[in-house]
This record gives sequence, structure tokens and C-alpha cells, in this order.
Amino acid sequence: MAGDGAGGSTPGGGSTDGLSDSAPSLPPLSPYCEQACEEAGGDDTKWAVCYSCKCKQALGALPPQSGATCAAGKDIHVYTVSLVNGVPVERDEPDDVETCENPALLESVPFEAACVPGGKLGQGTLDNGVVFKSVCRRKPGVARTDAPVYIDHGIIAHNPQNGATCYWVAGIAESDGVLPDVDITDGDVGKIAAYTAFWEAGSARAEGDDCVGCHDNDPFVYSPHLKSVFDFETSAYRFSPYAQVRVEGRPTTVDSRHLVSPEAAPCTSCHRISDQGTCSDWVAISTGTPTTDRPYELDMIARPEAYFPYSTWMPQPFPETATTHAKWLASFGPARDFIVDCCDNPTHPRCQWEALVGFSALLPGDLPDTAIERPQPGGGGKRTLQP
Ligand code: HEC
Ligand code: HEC
Repeated sequence: MAGDGAGGSTPGGGSTDGLSDSAPSLPPLSPYCEQACEEAGGDDTKWAVCYSCKCKQALGALPPQSGATCAAGKDIHVYTVSLVNGVPVERDEPDDVETCENPALLESVPFEAACVPGGKLGQGTLDNGVVFKSVCRRKPGVARTDAPVYIDHGIIAHNPQNGATCYWVAGIAESDGVLPDVDITDGDVGKIAAYTAFWEAGSARAEGDDCVGCHDNDPFVYSPHLKSVFDFETSAYRFSPYAQVRVEGRPTTVDSRHLVSPEAAPCTSCHRISDQGTCSDWVAISTGTPTTDRPYELDMIARPEAYFPYSTWMPQPFPETATTHAKWLASFGPARDFIVDCCDNPTHPRCQWEALVGFSALLPGDLPDTAIERPQPGGGGKRTLQP
């Protein structure tokens, strides 16, 4: 991995913005990109080009259109569950249903669309380690034999080595699931037009500000809505730095704090538990208290023990030590209770929180554009800049 080079390729220099001396440096923007960024204020097209340029610079590569488009993704399965002789039995639903065991949890997906099967999840990992996922939700009321119509489209791409993360959210209501290329750094007029007709541009929302409150631990949120498609193999991002790429200035650290108290370790050994959406919603939903705000099957909400492991879906994968509700409670109950208490009373002394680590690379311009003399052995470790 590129980050393992002990800083051999870095320009050195003092720590700025909490960057360590070993932070790798990134290539400069092209003149075309530089100009787009200079003119991005008040011009959504220039803004879009600049965002694409700065995402490519910070991520190192952008997901290709052929991979991140929903049309190439996998079908999201929705299932219902009923008790047969006291045992929960799953039934994959080929047609639209009004209630299900794994509704989409994103609230902007309308209630009546949350249990519609056949949404799409695209995902992949680029050669440089960048992980991306795209999602399109299927519009209710369109027969599965008809051409599909999707609503609510998004792409997230993340570089686990330096934390850079970019978000694309559609500004249009419906599509056929073919998402336009997010790489418009070459100035191709057709690609730029397709991009600006589809993706939002020119706002903090288009840089992920409305996403990170739910996508708060790390860039990707799992819910059982994605059970049939979510790639659990790509885990590099769960403890990585996490920062939003910005059109103006450096990437900014996602403003979550995560729980580091030892009592939470049965959960935090696999991923962070953060104080935004994870605390307010996802912890409860994942550990046996599904919300009534979504079209869940109500019998599960009334009797979550009987519907184990549908009512309780963490940890993932499900360990041998937690194959029944009683065993799960013995293994994870204390950690769950501790986390719920800390989410409710974050300032309690037993609840120790830490800020996320932000972008960890040097951008051109972070350091003075002059030769830097490295400290000589025995030279007192002081750095001097040459005139
Ligand atoms: C209200 C909470 C919420 C907000 C806000 C939100 N998401 Fe999500 N997102 C989810 C949940 C929950 C899932 C998992 C699937 C599900 O249950 O709907 C998800 C899944 C996704 C996925 C599929 C990959 C993954 O992480 O599982 C993408 C891509 C995505 N969201 C993009 C975005 C973008 C872009 C934004 C901001 C414009 C955004 N989301 C805002 C809750 C949210
Ligand atoms: C064996 C590893 C493992 C353990 C232990 C574990 N999880 Fe998870 N958890 C995962 C994986 C994998 C995901 C999928 C999302 C991802 O890759 O970040 C996930 C996702 C989640 C999510 C959905 C939100 C999100 O960021 O994707 C919640 C909430 C959650 N876990 C809570 C818990 C709680 C509470 C515990 C302790 C009871 C726990 N987890 C223990 C592996 C684990």
C-alpha cells in the first residue's frame, strides 16, 4: 500500500493542520482545474468541474461511470418474515409490498417506497484502494416487467489511506439508473452537461453536508435493506480518517465524535460508534429496537425476541456466541446498554469520546514553495527554510 512507505515520498516539512511529517503529498491541479476552481463561486458548472477535479486529486482516482452507475449494480432484495412454529421464516418478495422486515432506513425515501424491492447498489474498489458505493431506489407503482424507474440517487467514494471522501446526490427526481460520469476533469462538454443536468452542484449539500449526519462513523452505512448486496469484504474504511473534500480550501474533518470507552469494545472492535445518526437511530435499530417510523412489520416491533436475528442484526457477521437472543444478550447486552447510555448522556465521565481523524495528506501549496533543508544528524532537529 502506498501509505506504507514510511514517508519516503514526502516533501518533509513541519506539521501543519495536525498533519504528520509522513503525510504523503498529492499532485497539483491541472491548469484547467485551477481555473475552474478560481471561477467556481456563483457558477455551478465551474463549481462542478472544480469538485470533480479536487475529488480526483484527493482520492487519487474517481470511480468509473461503468462501475458506479446503478444500472450496473446488484438488485436490492426486500423480504418479509413470519413465524412458523415459533421460528422466523424469511420470504423474498418479488413484488411491491407495503411492509417488510428490512425497509430502507433513509427517511428521504418515501414511506411507500421503503419496501419496494429492486433498488440497485453499485460498489467496487479501485486499484489505489478507493472504495465506492452507489445507490438508486426503485419508484413504487412501476411494475417489475416495465422499464425500471429509480428515485433517490447517490454515490459515495472514499480513500481509506488519506480519508478523502466525495458525495454525489442527484438534483433530479427520477432516472433510469444510468448515473452520469463523475469525472469531468478533461473538459469534455458533453460529459459536463450530463453531470450538471443530473448531480447537484454549488452547495454544501453537494459536498456531503447533508449526508455525514447519518453516514457518521465512516462513509458507508449498512442496514438490512442492503443485506443481499452489501460487500462486507471491503473493510479498509472502518477505522480510516474521514474528511469531506471541499471546492474551497482543504478537505474538512467530518464532525463526529466516536466512543472509545473500553466498555464499548465488543462493538467498537469492528467499527466506530459515533454521536450523530449512529447514536440517535442506528444503534437502537440494530440491537432489537426497530423504529416505528418506517414500514416495518409490526409483529417484529412488538416481539423482537421472537424475531431474532431479524430484529437484531449486529454484529456482522453474526458470531457463534450469539446465535440465540439469550446468548446475544449475554455477549453484547452490556456493551449495547453502555452505548445507549452514553448516547443519551454523552458527558457522563465513563463515556470517553474522540474526534475523528481528518484528511492526512499534503496538498500542493500546504508548504512554502521552497527547498527544505532536512535536519542533519546532530543538527538539533531544527528545520530551516532556504531563501
Ligand atoms: C437520514 C439518514 C441518511 C442521510 C441523511 C443520508 N443517508 Fe445515505 N444511507 C442511509 C442508510 C440508512 C443507508 C443504508 C440503506 C438504507 O437502509 O436505506 C444509506 C445508504 C447509502 C448509500 C449506499 C452505500 C452505503 O453507504 O450503504 C449511498 C451511496 C448513500 N446512502 C448516499 C448518500 C448521500 C450522497 C447522502 C447525502 C446527500 C446520503 N446518503 C444521506 C441513511 C442516510
Ligand atoms: C464482527 C464485527 C462487528 C461487530 C463486533 C459489530 N459490528 Fe456493527 N457493523 C459491522 C459491519 C461490517 C457493518 C457494516 C458497515 C461498515 O462496513 O461500516 C456494521 C454496521 C453497523 C451499524 C450500521 C451503521 C453503519 O455505520 O454502517 C450499526 C448501528 C452497528 N454496526 C452497530 C453495532 C453495535 C451496537 C455493535 C455491538 C453490539 C456492533 N455493531 C458490533 C461489523 C461489526
